[in-house]
Amino acid sequence: MQGRFITFEGGEGVGKSTQVAASATWLRQQGIEVVLTREPGGTPRAERLRQILLERGDEPMPGSCELLLMFAARATHLANLVRPAVARGAWVLCDRFTDATYAYQGGGRGMPSSHIDALVQAVHPDYWPDLTVLLDAPVETGLARAHERNGANGPDRFETEQREFFERVREAYLARAAREPQRIRVVDASASVDAVQQQVRALLGALVAGR
Ligand code: TMP
Repeated sequence: MQGRFITFEGGEGVGKSTQVAASATWLRQQGIEVVLTREPGGTPRAERLRQILLERGDEPMPGSCELLLMFAARATHLANLVRPAVARGAWVLCDRFTDATYAYQGGGRGMPSSHIDALVQAVHPDYWPDLTVLLDAPVETGLARAHERNGANGPDRFETEQREFFERVREAYLARAAREPQRIRVVDASASVDAVQQQVRALLGALVAGR
């Protein structure tokens, strides 16, 4: 069977993890080998980089450091998990990928997209997901859900950002989707979990039918 690389994107609290998990269950019911993973993270080394990226601390993190660490984690994740799994015929469902870098580091932090383009060239030239599901909801809806979810550890370094940051993230995601409508499919994530999953399955179903 042909492997697939499918990514899920969206701002904070849009229900991404729930949708990724439900999609994996459904695809497995169709007899597909599914590998679930996430970015930043997904392999032991990339998960250590994730900790560095998310922890709050006294030392401010320059945007360039954040950007490079995202791609450092991505490089090892692609080489050691994503590419081998897709090559052997698995369907890799990944919670965030490079579109998140354009949205968060580009839109949110204002890093020049030419810098991100250069890192894409260095780390994954010509390698993009077969499908990207962008879960889109108003920033307020997402932030309210994300705050409810925060446990004893409190917010991570990204979740402490202000609303305007997440508005820029959302705009950058939608702008990317408008430029690549074939790959990046926007799903209204303000609907119920079940209604969103129906929309996601319709998108996945097209790939399942073509396998
Ligand atoms: P998560 O909460 O979806 O697991 O993602 C962790 C944080 O990492 C989230 O706030 C978004 C951020 N992030 C970026 O800023 N750039 C990226 O390229 C990726 C993959 C995630």
